[in-house]
Amino acid sequence: MNLKVRCLFGILLLSSPIVGAQTIDQQVQRAYFDLLTRQWQSEQEVKDRLQQLSPDLFPEYQQIIELPTDEALLPWTYFLAGIERSEGGKELAVLCKEARKATLMLRRFHHVRLADPFSQAVVDTSQAVRRLQFFAIQEGDKVAEIGFGYGYILGLLALVYQDVEVYANELDQYRLRAMQKVMAEEFTRDRSANFHFLAGHPRSTNLEGRELDLIIMENVFHHIGEQAVFLQSMLKSLHEEGTVIVIEEFLGSGRDEGNCPDRMDRAVLENLFSEAGFTLLKAQELDGQYRTMLRFARKEEGHLQE
Ligand SMILES: C[S@@+](CC[C@H](N)C(=O)[O-])C[C@H]1O[C@@H](n2cnc3c(N)ncnc32)[C@H](O)[C@@H]1O
Repeated sequence: MNLKVRCLFGILLLSSPIVGAQTIDQQVQRAYFDLLTRQWQSEQEVKDRLQQLSPDLFPEYQQIIELPTDEALLPWTYFLAGIERSEGGKELAVLCKEARKATLMLRRFHHVRLADPFSQAVVDTSQAVRRLQFFAIQEGDKVAEIGFGYGYILGLLALVYQDVEVYANELDQYRLRAMQKVMAEEFTRDRSANFHFLAGHPRSTNLEGRELDLIIMENVFHHIGEQAVFLQSMLKSLHEEGTVIVIEEFLGSGRDEGNCPDRMDRAVLENLFSEAGFTLLKAQELDGQYRTMLRFARKEEGHLQE
């Protein structure tokens, strides 16, 4: 399918009325077509503007766009510096940056297999989509991720949601800075503006009083030293009806090699949550990854639905 047809399909999908809350698959499809359309539009605008300056500039822009991001660093910096020196160049450089970010985000969509680049509308059942389905986030929610590491989940949230406020918390200062840089350089401004980065703390979320709808912790809880204290901090960070999702590889997961020596027993973790005042709402295995996703709420609200 050529790009114009794809964009038309995307525009039709975007202009169709949305009835009620969207399913996760619909949210992903909508985000994908929205991005596809914007990427195409911004590239056309950049093409027209660059060609007015010089016929060589758009082919040069396209060549840089094709490079892996680390190799593109220098050529991209020189390219932008050249553009900025021309008349009205500052504004054009901003357009070029946003158009490039849209292309990088589209690549990410394919990379994490959120959308199939060939059939476009088909959302696969990859680990990314299974996580998003379990998270069941709606636009307008306030979400925190504690210990985001290299930012896989943050990337998913930035791709799919336009209006979700995300508190991104990490103890490791290097990872914190690295992800802030990626977010600023590779995600369009409307997405990166929703992200608030903050330093983690061994005993606290540093988010008390924020009334969060959801706290996500993947592969982190077993690294927390004072877990009971941390759980109290999580309770103080949540909205009355907010929930916590913990994703863990538990002891006895079936994987013998390469796993963390500090893994926990699932019953021990559930007991800690229960003693802190949480109840288990839902559990789901991530087949193929030896991990289990657990969703907890404050005790009064939940019923076990496993
Ligand atoms: C095994 S890594 C998992 C990273 C990521 N969530 C993932 O699944 O790829 C654990 C991460 O938790 C972070 N971490 C550990 N204790 C933390 C705390 N108290 N607050 C915030 N982050 C923490 C570590 O710095 C590390 O990046």
